[in-house]
Amino acid sequence: MAVHRVGAEARLDSSEWMGREVVLKQRVVKGYRHPSLDRSLQTFRIKNEVRLMFEARRAGIAVPIIYSVDYANNRIVMEEVKGVRVKDALNELPEPKARAVCAKIGEIAARLHANDIVHGDLTTSNMLLEGERIVLIDFSLGSKTSELEDKGVDMHLLEEAFHSAHHQMSGLYEVVKDAYVRTDPHGEQVLKKVKEIEKRGRYTRKE
Ligand SMILES: Nc1ncnc2c1ncn2[C@@H]1O[C@H](COP(=O)(O)OP(=O)(O)O)[C@@H](O)[C@H]1O
Ligand SMILES: [Mg+2]
Repeated sequence: MAVHRVGAEARLDSSEWMGREVVLKQRVVKGYRHPSLDRSLQTFRIKNEVRLMFEARRAGIAVPIIYSVDYANNRIVMEEVKGVRVKDALNELPEPKARAVCAKIGEIAARLHANDIVHGDLTTSNMLLEGERIVLIDFSLGSKTSELEDKGVDMHLLEEAFHSAHHQMSGLYEVVKDAYVRTDPHGEQVLKKVKEIEKRGRYTRKE
């Protein structure tokens, strides 16, 4: 099986469903809450994730096709993307290709934000590179909002991911930012907000 992962919030397994290769994303039920509260929270979260995937698709962003949403079992049945995580691919690619991927990442972020979709965990671990296309996954922490602050947090997380995982090739995050602003001019305001968030972060760390 290609995908098998047990995370804190969800387990993922490759499987076959109606003759298709799929990934089952099943939310892990935490035993410590009230059972019926737990159930409604899980249902809410799955609905949220599914809704954001649809919204992203409508905004022209590649996301896995959803085949079925199974509330009884807390799971989403989706297309298995035959790609590698951008996190793993980026450092192996020759520089021109890596820069092209980064430009696409910037475009994707801009499209999300222009449509008031905040991903919530916008890192290169949640992007799969399949041939030339980037498929965005894991909308479980996402929301629909026009708040600059939330969009800023998305971009701040993305920047941190680049600084920690993709620092070998310099200037890659600059490519992301350039494409972000080029795709959506409002992105300038978001990037200004990021500076504010980072200043706040430094200040808090000093205390
Ligand atoms: N549709 C998919 N196709 C292929 N691999 C996937 C798919 N969805 C998730 N994965 C793999 O499973 C990993 C974890 O999935 P993700 O949705 O990010 O859950 P979480 O990070 O909450 O555990 C991803 O990093 C990716 O490697
Ligand atoms: Mg993830």
